[in-house]
Amino acid sequence: MEILGIDIGGSGIKGAPVNIETGQLVTERYRIETPTLSTPDAVANSVAQIVHHFHWNDQPIGCTFPAVIKQGVVYTAANIDKSWIGTNGESLIRQKTACSVTLLNDADAAGIAEMQFGAGKGQSGVVIMLTLGTGIGSAIFVDGKLLPNTEFGHLQIRGKDAEHRASSRVRTEKNLGWKKWATRLNEFLEQMEALFFPDLFIIGGGVSRKQEYFLPLLKTRAEIVPAQMRNQAGIIGAALAASVNINKF
Ligand code: BGC
Repeated sequence: MEILGIDIGGSGIKGAPVNIETGQLVTERYRIETPTLSTPDAVANSVAQIVHHFHWNDQPIGCTFPAVIKQGVVYTAANIDKSWIGTNGESLIRQKTACSVTLLNDADAAGIAEMQFGAGKGQSGVVIMLTLGTGIGSAIFVDGKLLPNTEFGHLQIRGKDAEHRASSRVRTEKNLGWKKWATRLNEFLEQMEALFFPDLFIIGGGVSRKQEYFLPLLKTRAEIVPAQMRNQAGIIGAALAASVNINKF
């Protein structure tokens, strides 16, 4: 079965049909820039553009979003237009695309994909996936089951949100060397370990491509590994989440 997965991010909106049995993209992904003013209407129109690009009519789609999502409604807006708060993103995208929509947090989607087909495949116990990008996204799994909408990137470290000290964006903006950045990440990981005692950390986000520069500098009790699905994790996880919803009905 194929489901269209769409990954809504701060800079780009990317989509591709996914074979949900194999976790492979069926065609090359299609990307458009996220509108500068990323209001609900503007973003939903961009999603519709991707849906039309793939001639996806009346079929299910899965969409990620960088916020807390409960029953389709957006609850937070750390790195997106504040007008999203309170918006039912699922209904809005359904109206614009005429497709049934499953909307979920971006890191949860990436985690779902990694657990099914990537670095977390077959892992029992407690697994924490962290995505290091504009913000810090998180997903936590217990014996493969997701606890949705964890927001560990907002844990307070030295009086600041962890993502304001240790995201990939902060590294670039503050021109931090790998060692300095790793020190900040270690402070965050230490807190995670003290609170959750995970068995495995999976580190994702664009910067995981450069894992050889910083992963060896991270000091955790738990095993720590790079994500495997790279920039496809969101798309694949969104499609998988939508497939679970279909099976429910
Ligand atoms: C948001 C999360 C999101 C993460 C990564 C954070 O600022 O609060 O919901 O998963 O960024 O995009």
